Amino acid sequence: MLRSIVGRHAEEKKLESNILQISQEAKAMKLKHNDVIDATVGMLHHDEGNIFKFGIVDELLKNLTDAETYHYAPVRGTKAFGDGVFDWVFGKHKDIIKQNFHYSVIPTTGGSGAISNTFYNFNDFGQSVLIPNYYWSPYDNFAYEANINLSTFLMYDDLKRFNLEDFRAKALELAKKQNRLCLLLNDPCNNPTGLCMTEEDWQEVVRVLNQVADMDIPVTLIHDIAYIDYQLKPAEASRDIFLSYLDMHPNILSVVVFSGSKTFSLYGFRIGAQIGLSKNKDIIDSFLRVGDYSVRARFSSVSQPGMSIIGKIFTTPEYQKSFADELIEARKLLRERAILFVAEAEKQKLDILPYCGGFFISIQTKNKNIFKDLANDHVYVISMKDLIRIAISSLNLAEIPRLVEILKKHI
Ligand SMILES: Cc1ncc(COP(=O)(O)O)c(C=O)c1O
Repeated sequence: MLRSIVGRHAEEKKLESNILQISQEAKAMKLKHNDVIDATVGMLHHDEGNIFKFGIVDELLKNLTDAETYHYAPVRGTKAFGDGVFDWVFGKHKDIIKQNFHYSVIPTTGGSGAISNTFYNFNDFGQSVLIPNYYWSPYDNFAYEANINLSTFLMYDDLKRFNLEDFRAKALELAKKQNRLCLLLNDPCNNPTGLCMTEEDWQEVVRVLNQVADMDIPVTLIHDIAYIDYQLKPAEASRDIFLSYLDMHPNILSVVVFSGSKTFSLYGFRIGAQIGLSKNKDIIDSFLRVGDYSVRARFSSVSQPGMSIIGKIFTTPEYQKSFADELIEARKLLRERAILFVAEAEKQKLDILPYCGGFFISIQTKNKNIFKDLANDHVYVISMKDLIRIAISSLNLAEIPRLVEILKKHI
């Protein structure tokens, strides 16, 4: 008998309930029926259904030179891109972070490429990355591809706050068991739940990581900040969580994951970055050595037009101002939808998880058939274990009351 054409390690690979596939299904249904509500897509859309484009991004895109469009992008990225991303991510705290850390910015194919590379390079095969029990499902795929596993702690305590106690217990247990701790947190504006950890939560997380590092166990924190620009509180305040980094043990590596998809609506361009930070220079030298290698080995380099546009915006004050102004509009769009959704949920006595920003609102459910039940009523959401995720990023205001009513019916 012919042996499998697929290598043994790839035999079990199968994309299941893939978010992008379900979105395609919802889109196809929408073409056939005009009452379909598609709450699957994690891309920001206007109420009228067209994608939210930043005018300045669009204008720069249309005026790039041939070199800015067609040439290979440098593996390490341009200075304009690297410095610009760093300053944008850390905002008003950029100087204090620079004073306290060695750092390096590696361009990647979106935040996805950043997480995938980090999983691969900062774990031994067979080890587990610690994450909360509600998470963006592609993390499973990144882990499988990197020959590692995911191990979870409870995201919420009884009061629906970040569950520090379970985090602490699971982190110490895993660290001792495998002599390594790699933690992934998607904060603020968690996908799927909308949770934002408090500054005190972050301080405690750092305390626990320090405790592990004190035992001479290697510690990597992967901090996925894909939705940092969409927190309900003012944009500058959303950067305050980085102040907790200042207390970090010198031997910890933090990899901050930046997504050009979410920040600039450049979803299709596949541009992002992993920003490595550590107080230990050797650790950042290692981060750069293996990161550069993986970029070249896995996808060669990233999108040149994406890098050119982001570099230009960050190095030209007037472009940056236009972008910041448009971002206020984008945030307003989401805020209006969230306020209406929360008000309707209260009216219908529908329990939602606390929302503090981002593209998604989630609801816990015991209905195992929830996806099908909702689809029968022409509502498309992403269902996960015990939870459905509603992408308010792709809703329009007018459909929210009916959506909440249908959700209440099936939850
Ligand atoms: C939590 C989270 N992290 C990272 C990403 C990465 O997105 P991209 O690879 O498009 O930058 C996404 C995209 O949906 C996300 O939801």
